Amino acid sequence: MITVKNVTFRYKGNEETALNEISLTVVNHDFVGIIGTSGAGKSTLAMALNGVIPHEFAGDFYGEVLIDDEDTVDHAAEYFGRKVGEVFQDIDSQMVASVVEDEILFGLENFGIPHEEIGIRLEKVLRELGIEDLRHREIASLSGGQKQKVAIAAILALEPEILVLDEPTGELDPESSQEIFGLLKKLNEEKGITVVIVEQKIKLLCEYVKHLVVLDRGKLQFDGVPREVITHIDTFKRLGINVPPVAELSAMFRADGSYAGDVTLTVEEAEKMVREVLHDSV
Ligand SMILES: Nc1ncnc2c1ncn2[C@@H]1O[C@H](COP(=O)(O)OP(=O)(O)O)[C@@H](O)[C@H]1O
Ligand SMILES: [Mg+2]
Repeated sequence: MITVKNVTFRYKGNEETALNEISLTVVNHDFVGIIGTSGAGKSTLAMALNGVIPHEFAGDFYGEVLIDDEDTVDHAAEYFGRKVGEVFQDIDSQMVASVVEDEILFGLENFGIPHEEIGIRLEKVLRELGIEDLRHREIASLSGGQKQKVAIAAILALEPEILVLDEPTGELDPESSQEIFGLLKKLNEEKGITVVIVEQKIKLLCEYVKHLVVLDRGKLQFDGVPREVITHIDTFKRLGINVPPVAELSAMFRADGSYAGDVTLTVEEAEKMVREVLHDSV
């Protein structure tokens, strides 16, 4: 579990704070989405969740981040690296090897995983992510989606309790994005891994996450289940975040009084709502 208490962070040399009195809790087995426009502080928050902020970036840090009751400022960032694994926004700078299996082996060796366990973990993670066929491939020859899976595999091999991903689908097409979300859902549900994902695709967040956090200029705007958070459609518009059309449709019907139910988040739900509304109006 991660508890963020009143965290403020200002990068050295900046006037504005990147994070401004942020408090939130990531419980075990949670699936958290973080959304916000560019510069909102999403990456900074993601890096604060495992101690990379403030350890690896100079600046002023206030408040505290507790990982299972241990304060991130009391330990070096590597101390939490295995428990809270992070796939950074720029995976190219995170990846160190040129061949897939070396990338995964590097992390395992670096974190001192016993030699006899390394091979077992490598095969297990390749199998879990369905990328056995990529094992001997050059990373430079992979598609965006394949590369992202390898970056996730390298972190997952360390068997983290919490996986933090910063815009893993940023450069992927809709199909590969859906695949990454499906994979994360499986890890969350079947392996009990807590997932925190920074993401711009609100439709996917609404479909997959249990808990949605909205950031705006370093401040926490909303924090709750997607169905509640998404009701603030006007604020989303003001922030420049497009809400899914299905949610807008239900907001329209709610506004004109023809529908009193929950905001709809999927096409199936919207279809049911439209049938109800039309049925009631005949
Ligand atoms: N390494 C850095 N040094 C100085 N300022 C930074 C650095 N990284 C981010 N910032 C600033 O902090 C703010 C939040 O950035 P970031 O967390 O990257 O936002 P997001 O991921 O939501 O786009 C921005 O104003 C950005 O310019
Ligand atoms: Mg970012």
